[in-house]
Amino acid sequence: MGRQELGVITIDQAMTSVVLGIGTAVPEKILTNIELESMVDTTEEWILSRTGIEERRIAACAQATSDLALSASKAALEQGGISADQLDLILVATVTPDMIFPSTACILQRALGAVNAGAFDLSAGCTGFVYALTVAEQFLASGKCRYVLIAAAETLSRITNYEDRNTCILFGDGAGAVVLGRGSKPYGIISAYLGADGNGESLLYVPAGGSRLPASPQTVADNLHYIHMQGNEVFKFAVSVIPECIDRVLNQSGMAMEDVDHFVFHQANRRILQTAVKRLGISWEKVIVNLERYGNVSAASIPLALGEAVEDGRIKEGDLIMMVAFGAGLTMGAVLMRWGGAGND
Ligand code: UT7
Repeated sequence: MGRQELGVITIDQAMTSVVLGIGTAVPEKILTNIELESMVDTTEEWILSRTGIEERRIAACAQATSDLALSASKAALEQGGISADQLDLILVATVTPDMIFPSTACILQRALGAVNAGAFDLSAGCTGFVYALTVAEQFLASGKCRYVLIAAAETLSRITNYEDRNTCILFGDGAGAVVLGRGSKPYGIISAYLGADGNGESLLYVPAGGSRLPASPQTVADNLHYIHMQGNEVFKFAVSVIPECIDRVLNQSGMAMEDVDHFVFHQANRRILQTAVKRLGISWEKVIVNLERYGNVSAASIPLALGEAVEDGRIKEGDLIMMVAFGAGLTMGAVLMRWGGAGND
């Protein structure tokens, strides 16, 4: 059915993009709510009741985003039985690259020895993993690539102001990676939606360090190299776009809300997830949650939650998974995927 030759790879319309392996990595150091009480004017009770977060991980001084990405990627490659030199493309989704350039993806490419892979970073805030999945799917579906590695990795502690109680209680460090390859229906990515609203630029941003406002002693003195966020506005955005993203993806796929076995939302705040669950009329049991242990890890949050749920057996071969994210940009997006299908290439 519907075959055509593109490069060296034959495209078959019955083929899909499946996850062959998944890996996660988090730093060892834990920052608790009690420790935060001694850093800013807050309480353990406030943080827990307003966010659901109990602790988050903080990267060691020598640990950069690419180091976390490397650990997660090695685990994903091992699980998928794919060697680094088989990779055609590496995407790193991050808002905390090792440096402005070169890309963290190139640093990861060298560290893995992925000598045959192209590599680039993708910046879509907390929606980075969902964006990267959608981009990877295009490369696989077109036949340009056979194996694509996505690493979503963050060291948000490096851009967090630990004197700002509005933000420092939320963020943590970590990484998740997936290796994608070609599989067959019914497994793999079924439908996806990506959206953006650039009007929300200043609701969540790091003002200095780019070409608009280059880093200087003054920008550092003014704390402009840190995350600035209007949390309650981002909260409202999140709860309004989650149902919209899900509707779009379900409509494209012809599937219904009841068909979904697991919802993996961006792990920003338990109250955002609770509000979404209520609006969608779904069961809390279907929602994968790990924000109590890691806080908000931006692009890494979905693959980290997904990886843990696969590891502990909650997500099984054949399960239908809805991933939904929202974040800086502002951006939003969702991917519907049926888990499994590795080995069917
Ligand atoms: O990853 C995607 C991007 N980020 C998000 O999705 C974050 C979304 N937003 C949120 O999670 C929530 O808005 C926050 C957790 C950030 C804040 O919760 P909120 O219920 O929206 O609080 P608020 O910002 O409206 O502030 C309420 C009060 C304020 O005091 P006043 O002005 O009412 O006296 C804040 O100063 O809570 C105060 N406050 C705190 N109090 C104790 C803010 N942070 C803290 C704190 N401890 N850490």
